[in-house]
This record gives sequence, C-alpha cells and structure tokens, in this order.
Amino acid sequence: MRPRIMTVYGTRPEAIKVAPVIKALEASDEFDSVTVVTGQHREMLDQVNELFGIVPDHDLSIMSHGQTLAQIFARVIDGLDPILEKEEPAAVIVQGDTSTSTAAALAAFYRKIPVIHLEAGLRSGDISSPFPEEANRKITTQIAALHLAPTDVSRANLLAEGVDESTIVITGNTVIDALLMTVGKDRPFADPALEALAASGRRILLVTTHRRENWGGAMESVGRALARIALAFPELEIVLPAHRNPIVREAVLPHLVGLANVTVTEPLGYGEFTRMLALSTVILTDSGGVQEEAPSLGKPVLVMRENTERPEAVTAGTVRLIGTDEERIVASVTELLTDTATYQSMARALNPYGDGKSRERVLQSLKNLTSSRK
Ligand code: UD1
Ligand code: UDP
Repeated sequence: MRPRIMTVYGTRPEAIKVAPVIKALEASDEFDSVTVVTGQHREMLDQVNELFGIVPDHDLSIMSHGQTLAQIFARVIDGLDPILEKEEPAAVIVQGDTSTSTAAALAAFYRKIPVIHLEAGLRSGDISSPFPEEANRKITTQIAALHLAPTDVSRANLLAEGVDESTIVITGNTVIDALLMTVGKDRPFADPALEALAASGRRILLVTTHRRENWGGAMESVGRALARIALAFPELEIVLPAHRNPIVREAVLPHLVGLANVTVTEPLGYGEFTRMLALSTVILTDSGGVQEEAPSLGKPVLVMRENTERPEAVTAGTVRLIGTDEERIVASVTELLTDTATYQSMARALNPYGDGKSRERVLQSLKNLTSSRK
C-alpha cells in the first residue's frame, strides 16, 4: 500500500505554497494524496485551489467573520480530529505559521502521526511580532518529525534551538515553485482598469497589507502615507488589492477615497497578482510571501514591519525594512521613485528562497521518512 500523505491548509499563502507539493504528490505513483482545507480563509483560499486545479477531499469551512484566534484554533482541532481518525495518514504536511498550520500539527501529534513542517525555521526573534505567527512556528517546531527549511538561515535557527540535525532538510521555499509555475503566463486581469494600466506602461506602486500587529494606528498611517504619495506623484498608479479582512479595509481605504491614481481591487487571483508584481516598479508590503517572490522578479520591496523572519533578501539588498511610520514610508517610496542609483541597487533579480524545484526535494524527504518508518 502506498503511504497516504495528508496536506492540511487554510489560508491563501499556505494554499500557494502547498499547491506545488500537492500537484507533485498527485502525479507521483509512490504516494496517496489526501487534502484537507480548514477554510480559515474562504474566497482567498478557493481562488488558489481553482488556479492550480486542486479539489480538496475535506473542507472544515471554519471561517466566520470576527472570530478569535482561540476559536480558529479550536475549530481546526475539533474538525480535523475525526478526519485523521478516518484517513489514518502516514504523515501530515503543514505549512508555515498560521493558526490552521499549528492547530493541524497539534491534532496530528495527538494521534501520533508524524508532522512534516514545510517552511520550518523562520524566526523574527520577537515572540510578539509577527503575532501570533512567531509563537505558532516555534510550537510546530517542537512537535514536527521532519523540518523542511527553506534556507541555510532557517536551518541554523533550528539547530540553535536544539533540533536534531538529522530531522532537518533544506528544500528551498515552495513559493518559488508556485511563482515559476504561474508568472509569465500573463493571464488577463478581470478588471479592465488593470488591463488598461498594464498597456499604459505607467509606473506602478503595488501595495498589500494585512498583518495583525499593524491593525489600527499603523494601518491608518499606511493609508495617510499612500494618499500623500498619490498626490506627490500624479503619473504613478498605486494598486492596492485589499485583503478581505474588514479590519484592514476600515483602517486603510477611507484615506484613499477620491484619489484618481489609486486603484483598490478585491484580492487578485494568484495569476493576476504575479503578473502585477512583474509589472510593478516598487512593492510596498507587510506580507511574508511577497518578500520571497519579489526578489526573484528583481523588484525592490519596502517592508512595512519592524523586523522580518526573512532576512536573506534584506542582506542581499533587494528588501528594506521601513516600519509603518508615515514619514518613513513617504520618504522611502520617494527615494526609490526619484533616485535611479538607489533603485538600480535594489532592483536585482536573485533567488535566495528557492530555485523552483523545492517540491522535488520535499517528495524525496517524504520518501526517506516513510521508508524509514515502515
Ligand atoms: C491569516 C494568518 C496570517 C497570514 C494571513 C494571510 C493566522 C493567525 N493569521 O491572517 O498568518 O499571514 O492569513 O493572508 O493564522 N476574510 C474573508 N475572506 C477570506 C479571508 C479572510 O472574508 O477569504 C476575512 C474574515 O472576516 C476573517 C478575516 O478576514 O475573519 C481574518 O482572517 P484570519 O484568517 O483570521 O486572519 P488573517 O489576518 O487573514
Ligand atoms: N497574493 C495574491 N493576491 C493578492 C495579494 C497577494 O495571490 O491580491 C499572494 C502573493 O503573491 C503571496 C501571497 O498571496 O504569494 C501572500 O499572502 P499574504 O500576504 O496574505 O500572506 P503572508 O505571506 O503574509 O502570510
């Protein structure tokens, strides 16, 4: 019998990063693949599954507006446990540091099913930022049987915490697999305004924001900074695919009303978003995944956070941490838009997070794990 590998995921970034692995598992004749979505996200998750042609075997449908972290965690564990009992997987894959990811890891651990942690070993060094992700990652590290680290840096973080060297494999980050499977196909934008923008050749500032620790005052300051940038650079177009979280929208969007050169959209499908990344001049974001993708496309990234668990591209010079202070955001974007030397020094394509073949290393690691446990 082929080992059954269960992949559990629930949010947009997890879906993007597990999609290449699920496709590889489905194509392999060595494994039986079972997929479970928790539905922590709904529309933003479904968009990704549709793009990659993944139809989940189980859907816990846990999303409800305004639910607390504890409610998400409890609903995942409660919903997943009977599925683990029924499916009896040989191993469970979880990705990253969301509530879905850590709750699923714990549910599997309680049933003594080995946990495979994709994107293991990221650390900001500050338990309160990103919140609750830094804690989630550390908890999953404690219970994982196999740690699939994207880079040397993440491997070193795990070793420094005493993780057994023989359980760590550097695979690269599967986000680069997803990116290379998607970018360059130039899927049409659903919104005709974006298609017209793409044809215009105008400079684009692409913005995403959603981090929990930036809710409230920090996001208000992002909104004010964007309004000032829009007025200072009338030839520039600011594109903001707004996260579906109402808390995010209420903080940022009121500042952008009536500005002719700001386009606020619904979350873009991954195909559209990677096309927009490639068209953009500068990226302003607090996203983890975008910090990993943009350097591969040679796009300068300004990160609206005080720290990052992804220092590789900062060291390489394509990513800068700028925080959420309004003046600093305006000054940092202005510098990149007006100082060619600074821009050129950041706009170098490099791939610190992966070569697009991470899924192959993930499958090899799974083979090694399942054959050693037979
Ligand atoms: C979650 C993850 C975060 C990850 C982010 C990616 C946790 C604690 N947080 O944060 O690590 O970086 O996803 O985007 O796991 N909503 C919808 N439709 C959707 C998605 C969200 O309406 O498709 C709304 C709902 O009101 C939902 C809210 O957004 O309650 C927040 O979603 P939630 O998953 O709790 O947190 P995120 O901030 O998205
Ligand atoms: N993304 C997308 N559509 C959008 C915005 C982002 O497909 O409108 C993708 C982006 O390319 C990246 C991922 O979503 O791969 C990042 O998700 P998010 O910022 O929500 O979460 P994080 O990476 O911060 O956990």
